[in-house]
Amino acid sequence: MKIDIVTLFPNMFSGVFEESIIKRAIDRNLVSINFHNFRDFSLDPHHKVDDTPYGGGAGMVLMPQPIFDCVESLKTKDSKVILLTPSGIPYKQKMAYDLSKEKHLILICGHYEGFDERIRTLADLEISIGDYVLTGGEIPAMVLVDSITRLLKGAINERSHIEDSFNDNYLLDYPTYTKPPLFRNMEVPSVLLSGDHQKIDEYRYQESLRKTKELRPDLLEK
Ligand code: ADE
Repeated sequence: MKIDIVTLFPNMFSGVFEESIIKRAIDRNLVSINFHNFRDFSLDPHHKVDDTPYGGGAGMVLMPQPIFDCVESLKTKDSKVILLTPSGIPYKQKMAYDLSKEKHLILICGHYEGFDERIRTLADLEISIGDYVLTGGEIPAMVLVDSITRLLKGAINERSHIEDSFNDNYLLDYPTYTKPPLFRNMEVPSVLLSGDHQKIDEYRYQESLRKTKELRPDLLEK
């Protein structure tokens, strides 16, 4: 998979993709991630990318020309263009699965007060990572890249994500334990030490259900 990130602040990403599972996925050529500063596409003599809003109001608005030219230079017939915005569709695990099947993603990160409404016409999909407003689309783009990359074949052990919380069954993950069996008076449930895999599966399912009822009853309503 190829991911192109269209941003005014490519340095914000340094470090994030240079560790752990994403780094390994890049090293294994499962994904290539490239950054494109749309300021480089500005036709303004001072490389301006934003201006004041028509009709007045606070803050600066991203102009269409640099983002259009940047995205159009990257787009092919296989591209899916995603705009990160608080007014987008709420991001869910199912969307990460669907997007992990794409060949080429172009992620547009807005910044400042917002972007010119005409930029929306470039996007196949508008995504919000939650009902709060961040300073820009860079952190949401990191969230998408992380959640999608771990689903690529060969990135992690497949069982790990088959059992993830928020898969189609809408249950939270069951609790997991490792050594030692007794820590500060807290015991690992004996069923997990029993070696009886049928009982273990049943215990895990019941625990998933119990945790979901307690922590996220809204998921069970679905
Ligand atoms: N840009 C600013 N806030 C955002 C959010 N919550 N989701 C996606 N993009 C954003």
